[in-house]
Amino acid sequence: LTTVKELYKNPEQFLDKEITIGGWIRSIRDSKTFGFIVVNDGSYFQPLQVVYHDSMENFADISKQNVGAALVVTGTLVATPQAKQPFEIQATEVAVEGGSAPDYPLQKKRHTLEYLRTISHLRPRTNTFQAVFRVRSLIAYAIHQFFQERGFVYVHTPLITGSDCEGAGEMFRVTTLDMENLPKNEDGTVDYSKDFFNKETSLTVSGQLNGETYAQAFRSIYTFGPTFRAENSNTTRHAAEFWMIEPEIAFADLEDNMNLAEDMLKYIINYVLEEAPEEMNFFNSFVDKGLLERLKLVASSDFARVTYTEAVEILEKHNDKFEYKVSWGTDLQTEHERYLTEEIYKRPVFVTDYPKEIKAFYMKMNEDNKTVAAVDCLVPGIGEIIGGSQREDDYEKLVARMKELELREEDYQFYLDLRKYGSTRHAGFGLGFERCVMYLTGMSNIRDVIPFPRTVNNCEL
Ligand code: 4AD
Ligand code: MG
Repeated sequence: LTTVKELYKNPEQFLDKEITIGGWIRSIRDSKTFGFIVVNDGSYFQPLQVVYHDSMENFADISKQNVGAALVVTGTLVATPQAKQPFEIQATEVAVEGGSAPDYPLQKKRHTLEYLRTISHLRPRTNTFQAVFRVRSLIAYAIHQFFQERGFVYVHTPLITGSDCEGAGEMFRVTTLDMENLPKNEDGTVDYSKDFFNKETSLTVSGQLNGETYAQAFRSIYTFGPTFRAENSNTTRHAAEFWMIEPEIAFADLEDNMNLAEDMLKYIINYVLEEAPEEMNFFNSFVDKGLLERLKLVASSDFARVTYTEAVEILEKHNDKFEYKVSWGTDLQTEHERYLTEEIYKRPVFVTDYPKEIKAFYMKMNEDNKTVAAVDCLVPGIGEIIGGSQREDDYEKLVARMKELELREEDYQFYLDLRKYGSTRHAGFGLGFERCVMYLTGMSNIRDVIPFPRTVNNCEL
């Protein structure tokens, strides 16, 4: 089969020649002696119009087909300079590979995103989701390419883990124990020695701790895989299962970390603008007007950089506009993050050096003993897209911090070892892959950039 993409990329090679394509009916109409079928073959954002005639013996059968049916069409590709599409196929043969029932849920009218979420197995056949999921695929490729070109080693960190990287207690438990008859210790706690791994285990919230061990061997590594959070946040930006990209770099500090993050985001933007112009134009016209202009500006200008303390001073002046008031020590909420990036800076902004109390145990303590070398990257429309930090590389300081937070040292022995054997300055960050896809497509709900989303109360398909 020839793909529609090949036709668009190289029309001269195919015009006035016989070709065969396979695809699904988007729309079909006929008159007595001929008919038109718009077919999408999934290879390209544009569909292809098929013209068929009553000289074909199965003319009546073709005309009976419903939207959604799968066809294999053979015919001649002819130029149509007068029409909207540059060419069409004059069919000599239309074989119905699989008919479609008349109750096919995707009719030609526009459906709401909410409705399409209820048919996540069929929505990839719509223009919107063709564009979203092709761009999602391209972004993944761009990310690999960015890191591979720079010599980073791709590390596969485990999904089942015995530690809680972010210390937020938002883990999905992994167990083979019988929930009805949980074995108990004398003090009433669950006895995990009877469990599969002989200990308490969960799905990972982050590959960072394992990733750090490889950075201390390869210098520059990245992970790219699924992570899980049992956060009870029913928002447009939280999923229970999402993908994260976590680079980790040795002999590097917070500034190196920010430079890497900024270069990466710009690289991804340029890549997608280059490789998916039809899809990006579609988003710009139908999803988020101004998207292209904004992204091009982001790719060509510096991100803002501000400390948490400075950011709080700015935000406090606008406290009348916020539901949650800001003061030093409070965690920034989405409304504050968006205000900073959308109203104050009007571009992506790195916020650094947060109070230690609102950040994870592994972040490097600053000299003030109050803040840590953390960095969040905030972008318009979303808020936090990246969270990262320079890591605490001093053994004693790390142990002291873990004691303060009552973390069990025996669970983190491997992590402490890194501070014992050739410890280096090092830093890394986590890019939320879905938030990145939202940012680049202008889609405003995380459920619409994940093929089969898992969110609070929702694990369909
Ligand atoms: O800020 P977070 O929690 O950082 C970490 O997990 C670090 N271990 C990363 C590191 O330094 N290696 O999460 C990183 C990013 C967030 O900025 C956000 O984009 C995304 O992951 N994220 C989520 N995306 C979708 N749904 C959720 N529930 C998310 N939680 C975090
Ligand atoms: Mg974070």
